[in-house]
Amino acid sequence: MVLSCSSKMTPRSVLFTAAAITAFLTTCSASIENPAIQPTPPMGFNNWARFECVLNETLFTETADAMVATGLRAAGYDRLNLDDCWMAYSRAPNGSLQWNETKFPHGLPWLADYVKARGFHLGIYEDSGNATCGGYPGSYGHEQLDAETFASWGIDYLKLDGCNVYPDTEQEYQARYSHWHQIFSNMSHPLVFSESAPAYFASGDNLTDWYTVMDWVPVYGELARHSTDILVYVGEGSAWDSIMVNYNYNLLLARYQAPGYYNDPDFLIADHPGLTLDEKRSHFALWASFSAPLIISAYIPALPDEVIAYLKNSDLIAVDQDRLAQQATLVSRDDSFDVLTRSLANGDQLLTVLNRGNDTASTSIAVARLGLEEAGCSYAAKDLWNGTWTTIVDGKIDIKDLASHATAVYRISLPPRCSAVVPTGMIFNTASKNCLTASSQHGISFAECNGDDTQVWQVRSSGTISPLSDQSACLTAEDGASVVGLSPCGKDKNQQWAYAVTGNLKNVASGVCLTEGAQNNTVTVCGFEKNTQVWALPSGVEVSR
Ligand SMILES: *[C@@H]1O[C@H](CO)[C@@H](O)[C@H](O)[C@H]1NC(C)=O
Ligand SMILES: *[C@@H]1O[C@H](CO)[C@@H](O)[C@H](O)[C@H]1NC(C)=O
Ligand SMILES: *[C@@H]1O[C@H](CO)[C@@H](O)[C@H](O)[C@H]1NC(C)=O
Ligand SMILES: *[C@@H]1O[C@H](CO)[C@@H](O)[C@H](O)[C@H]1NC(C)=O
Ligand SMILES: *[C@@H]1O[C@H](CO)[C@@H](O)[C@H](O)[C@H]1NC(C)=O
Ligand SMILES: *[C@@H]1O[C@H](CO)[C@@H](O)[C@H](O)[C@H]1NC(C)=O
Ligand SMILES: *[C@@H]1O[C@H](CO)[C@@H](O)[C@H](O)[C@H]1NC(C)=O
Ligand SMILES: *[C@@H]1O[C@H](CO)[C@@H](O)[C@H](O)[C@H]1NC(C)=O
Ligand SMILES: *[C@@H]1O[C@H](CO)[C@@H](O)[C@H](O)[C@H]1NC(C)=O
Repeated sequence: MVLSCSSKMTPRSVLFTAAAITAFLTTCSASIENPAIQPTPPMGFNNWARFECVLNETLFTETADAMVATGLRAAGYDRLNLDDCWMAYSRAPNGSLQWNETKFPHGLPWLADYVKARGFHLGIYEDSGNATCGGYPGSYGHEQLDAETFASWGIDYLKLDGCNVYPDTEQEYQARYSHWHQIFSNMSHPLVFSESAPAYFASGDNLTDWYTVMDWVPVYGELARHSTDILVYVGEGSAWDSIMVNYNYNLLLARYQAPGYYNDPDFLIADHPGLTLDEKRSHFALWASFSAPLIISAYIPALPDEVIAYLKNSDLIAVDQDRLAQQATLVSRDDSFDVLTRSLANGDQLLTVLNRGNDTASTSIAVARLGLEEAGCSYAAKDLWNGTWTTIVDGKIDIKDLASHATAVYRISLPPRCSAVVPTGMIFNTASKNCLTASSQHGISFAECNGDDTQVWQVRSSGTISPLSDQSACLTAEDGASVVGLSPCGKDKNQQWAYAVTGNLKNVASGVCLTEGAQNNTVTVCGFEKNTQVWALPSGVEVSR
């Protein structure tokens, strides 16, 4: 079967309900339009962060055996991915890529068979440029041949890097990645396509090109390495800081994720010597809360039981693999705590609380902050670390004595009478990181995020937006659409806002965009993915593509 998708069918507004997913599957086909290629985020192993270029057949066979023996395979980790340096320095006379015969004495088709016999898929690495980052032959000009070669070796997953691309413009990357996408789309069994293109645009003051690359990766492939590499085993610096850097990047991109496409904040560095057990567990819980790829880069045969245990946590894996694939978003951020939430396919709501601070601390979170009704509703919460159920009393969830860098994570079940969830959380500029803030005198400002109710917004399905500090006040484009402020909620279109995958928050009446830094906190004419106009909104908000 040829997988293709009429481009006329792709731009649309999609609320990611189960019905919408079914509609996707039946009306269209290619990446986010064909979630069947990778319906939930990939799970598995990659050698890079742990071993870099020192990879070989033994490492992969030992890892496969250890993943079966420890139960990691049974828990869902079913991909073994080679990274850079698996190749010989030159192509064969007929142009095909060759593996390093010292590293892979039996060859990659043999290795693919070995891992398949144990329930795994084999994945591989190439580069869209003239050479890989490690200096091995790149795929540029050989794309069709390389795709056929990988498939003939029994490989069904490609991570495509972006070193040595000339010129290094957004347009050139788009041409190359779309070419690969077309090749895969024409294959009867398309390879899962992991795209590293955005990582080449993630730094810098002007983020327009990064956002532009992010616009196309969900259409071309199943996951994208969107930013910096996670710290390697022998790397200098703080492994926790590296995790936090990638975590913070991921928080900027929730709008792009949908069943079939996943933001990839990079590997789980489960045996990094610079991490405490609490930090490793947080890393895992945060990635699961994001529905991020769970790709372990560690020496699995030597992982201690306590690490295997959290990697196999079936409640957290179920969250990661939830078929809505919603990415948890920030409800609030203060000096110590990040509070995140998202919805799950069975109607449950996730609560994830990270203590970023340096001291053990306690907090209490009102259910209204998760978009849940308070009056007359009682909820049950399951602690996903130990399976304990508690009843939420007084509409508040108490988190007691959370250690520094530890994460609490709960799955909250909603009784049928109280099953409505209003997307709730921070609205922040993804370039400046400033929070939209309700100020006195019915104004708004853009301020440092502080966790206050004036920075927690409810985004209703009608398109109205209110701060928790005053739910009868709605964000309004006033005065001939030149000023934005808060006024009593009504039904006017100047109080309705539409969120686009571009990150723009557009006023339905006037078509102007919420803009940071304009005079009088104005709304202004929508530009193309300008730093001042790209916003992160709570998960569950309808995103038009
Ligand atoms: C294979 O790779 C592992 C991990 O880097 C290394 O410890 C081992 O020495 C390598 N084996 C060979 C034969 O190169
Ligand atoms: C092939 O692998 C061997 C063993 O790791 C290594 O010494 C050699 O440099 C590799 N060749 C290339 C082209 O990377
Ligand atoms: C190209 O050559 C390699 C060995 O040098 C061989 O394994 C492969 O089958 C050849 N490819 C084609 C398409 O003939
Ligand atoms: C990259 O490869 C292309 C095609 O082989 C070639 O035309 C170009 O000169 C190379 N560029 C660099 C900088 O090596
Ligand atoms: C894919 O198939 C279509 C239709 O057969 C063809 O027009 C196109 O050139 C092919 N693309 C690639 C990259 O092979
Ligand atoms: C930001 O980059 C985009 C795309 O490269 C460009 O069109 C735009 O003018 C730049 N904006 C500023 C303020 O430099
Ligand atoms: C925690 O400690 C580190 C280093 O001691 C310091 O750089 C950082 O600012 C502290 N973080 C907080 C939230 O206090
Ligand atoms: C589970 O963990 C919570 C804190 O996260 C603790 O209050 C509770 O006592 C634990 N239950 C068990 C059975 O360990
Ligand atoms: C900003 O507000 C002042 C005072 O309300 C007003 O005079 C001015 O025209 C406004 N500027 C814009 C660009 O709306």
